[in-house]
Amino acid sequence: MRVLSGIQPTGPIHWGNYFGAIRQYIALQEKEQAFYFIANLHAFTTVRDRDKLRQWTLDIAIDLLALGLDPNKATLFVQSDVPEVSELCWLLMTGAPLGLLERCHAFKDKKAKGISADAGLFTYPVLQAADILAYDSDTVPVGEDQVQHIEVCRDLAGSFNHEYGDVFVMPKAHVLDTSSRVPGTDGEKMSKSYNNTLAVFEDAKVQRKQIMRIVTDSRPMDEPKEPVGDVLYDLYSLVVGESDREAMASLYRRGGFGYGEVKKALADAAEKFFSEPRARRAELAAHPARIREVVGDGAAKARKKAAAVLKRAQDACGVMGW
Ligand code: ADP
Ligand code: TRP
Repeated sequence: MRVLSGIQPTGPIHWGNYFGAIRQYIALQEKEQAFYFIANLHAFTTVRDRDKLRQWTLDIAIDLLALGLDPNKATLFVQSDVPEVSELCWLLMTGAPLGLLERCHAFKDKKAKGISADAGLFTYPVLQAADILAYDSDTVPVGEDQVQHIEVCRDLAGSFNHEYGDVFVMPKAHVLDTSSRVPGTDGEKMSKSYNNTLAVFEDAKVQRKQIMRIVTDSRPMDEPKEPVGDVLYDLYSLVVGESDREAMASLYRRGGFGYGEVKKALADAAEKFFSEPRARRAELAAHPARIREVVGDGAAKARKKAAAVLKRAQDACGVMGW
């Protein structure tokens, strides 16, 4: 079974990205043949600063390796290092109904807000379909927001196969555990667009300050409180083991504590939880050439597969073999 997913390099990764997606990707490397790539071509639809695009692409590679992605188990590469995908994208584009793309949320939301969209954003789901089909992917682990794109991919693959025979493997979305929706520092869903993130590799002191500033309710000190659903408790649960979590839950239920104590416990636990990856990250970041080599090796492996699939598609539809 081949598992594939892409991560956009649009800035420093936050707890939502890690607990909601990246941690689950890394776990899958143990039992599946995993392909993970840094979707810089997709990020290019929003990141128009060349230095940032380059920096964030390298940064995500370092982050993933520091967090436990093992290049001997999973194949890690950068999307644009496999140009076959862009060629495949064109083949899929020609059969992609405009109506289908008009319904896709990235484009639809922008249009609804009166923001003018470009062809890159409009055809974004077709490139994503090419990403998936180029590697004969069986399963695509994604957050709920991406399920629509996997449906588009299945539609495009289905029509191509219908017209030209069994060229593409039909992929399935594997929706990541949504119970792990991570709250941000304001209690809303953690997201870059809400400015409420805790970055995974934030400087420990800065992170402590961010945690101390988390907005809490004005419940009197001695009143018991249900822990689940409380931002501090929910964040704390992510970075501690079972017994610490239970101890904190009973503290909430008993009452008589201040949020300051919980914040301090959360900051300590977070620092401990990310301390190993942080140290590993510092080591990796000191040798960017090695990172480029690892990711380059990943691309070479991915390209081999993508070239074979592209040839299959080109042969089937007549743009090759004339
Ligand atoms: P952002 O909302 O910060 O722009 P992205 O959309 O780039 O984040 O997130 C990439 C993936 O990370 C999502 O598809 C989702 O799986 C996961 N993710 C992001 N934020 C959260 C969150 N708050 N809780 C759980 N998962 C999240
Ligand atoms: N669009 C995805 C996101 O924003 C990233 C992505 C690009 C992707 N290509 C993909 C995810 C292919 C899964 C499969 O998160």
